[in-house]
Amino acid sequence: MREYNYDILKEIKDRWSPRAFSPEPVDQDDLMAILEAARYAPSCFNEQPWRFIIGQGESLQVMQSLLLEGNLKWAKNAPVLILICSKTTFDRNDKENKYHQFDAGTAWGFLSLEAISRGYYTHAMAGYRKKLARELLNIPEDIVPIAMVALGKPGDINALEDEIRQKEKPNTRKDLSDLIMEVRINE
Ligand SMILES: Cc1cc2nc3c(=O)[nH]c(=O)nc-3n(C[C@H](O)[C@H](O)[C@H](O)COP(=O)(O)O)c2cc1C
Repeated sequence: MREYNYDILKEIKDRWSPRAFSPEPVDQDDLMAILEAARYAPSCFNEQPWRFIIGQGESLQVMQSLLLEGNLKWAKNAPVLILICSKTTFDRNDKENKYHQFDAGTAWGFLSLEAISRGYYTHAMAGYRKKLARELLNIPEDIVPIAMVALGKPGDINALEDEIRQKEKPNTRKDLSDLIMEVRINE
């Protein structure tokens, strides 16, 4: 059971990463609005390093072929798989952007919250073949694939394998007191 010490945004409370997805297609306006939310994430120098490769319809199969077996088992039902990528250099001067992953993560957070506000769930995955993604999707050198995200409406829990079904509920969090580090100032 999730517990909240403070009254936070409903979308944050409602969001979690299920594995039971319905194959029902995602409304295209909803999909664009979900990406629009990511578009408005803050970033270092307003670089907006995030890039999205959308797998749906015909391109869904290619995206599925990148998933590791453990993820494919359940993610095969998701109607949309988004590969979130990030540009490693600044447009302004071609220098390394050390914050690109931080910013792409913020964009993913915004995306997931807009999704839940529209009745869609998201589930991020690190378990996919990055090298193969680069090859199959022709990802340029200065762009790195970060995470695959399954997007869709909730599906039938009973269609999941037993072991996966048992985990199919929102998980808990560390205590806030474990996350706020004590400041120890050197004299
Ligand atoms: C970058 C990232 C990679 C993840 N990789 C996987 C994955 O490969 N397979 C999986 O089932 N879940 C994956 N997850 C989901 C996490 O396990 C999940 O977000 C975490 O347990 C918190 O649960 P919640 O999202 O339901 O709140 C990943 C999440 C993130 C943010």
